[in-house]
Amino acid sequence: MSRLRLGINIDHVATVRNARGGAHPCPVRAAKAAAAAGADGITAHLREDRRHIRDADIGRLVEEIALPLNFEMAATEEMVAIALRHRPHAACIVPEKRTEVTTEGGLDVVGGQAHLRPAIARLAEAGIRVSLFVDPDPAQLDAALAVGAPVVELHTGAYCEVEGAERAHELERIRRAAAHGAAIGLECHAGHGLAFDSVGPVAAIPTLVELNIGHFLVGEAIFTGLEAAIRRMRALMDEARATAGA
Ligand code: PXP
Repeated sequence: MSRLRLGINIDHVATVRNARGGAHPCPVRAAKAAAAAGADGITAHLREDRRHIRDADIGRLVEEIALPLNFEMAATEEMVAIALRHRPHAACIVPEKRTEVTTEGGLDVVGGQAHLRPAIARLAEAGIRVSLFVDPDPAQLDAALAVGAPVVELHTGAYCEVEGAERAHELERIRRAAAHGAAIGLECHAGHGLAFDSVGPVAAIPTLVELNIGHFLVGEAIFTGLEAAIRRMRALMDEARATAGA
């Protein structure tokens, strides 16, 4: 089975920085630590209200970090313009409501094709690899393919929030969606809410090629340091992958 890529979301380093309005802790420094710990990419979400990552952070990440940057963004004119200016390696389009604490559900690609198609085309023409953050629903994946997205990121939030039989059910939804995505030619990623105790079964899904993980690792960094937290996550992913492939 191929090695699963790990993208580190550094948004919540910026959340802590912004709590005091200064420059510490610096998300660019966190991205450098993530690179040192073996991350394959850096993910940052520039929200409309700039509650964590700021415009200047995006510029610095593009200039100072050698790893590919995955720019999470809403499909708004403002965000498309910023992406076209900085040309990150990838852009992951997410739904965004000003009132939500985090990205609560996947994009409605089925209902939003007219709105998404032009944004995807402009990003793709600039050489930016576009992914759509969707719930693990085959209809959303079919729509993603139809609007020209080469990649989807499957929302793992529902899986992470429940336990026992419900978690097994949510895992099966992710597994089926990832198999369907691969079968129709989409590259499938996954993320949201993943932690040490939930990453293994997701990492073992052979048709996933990338996980994006942030909040848990930034929280864990308080106790063990960011690099140690990322190394442990990497090891758990590799173990799950090796066991599943054995
Ligand atoms: N992927 C996407 C598309 C997201 O919106 C987020 C949260 O910003 C993540 C991954 C990472 O989620 P978490 O911070 O819960 O690990």
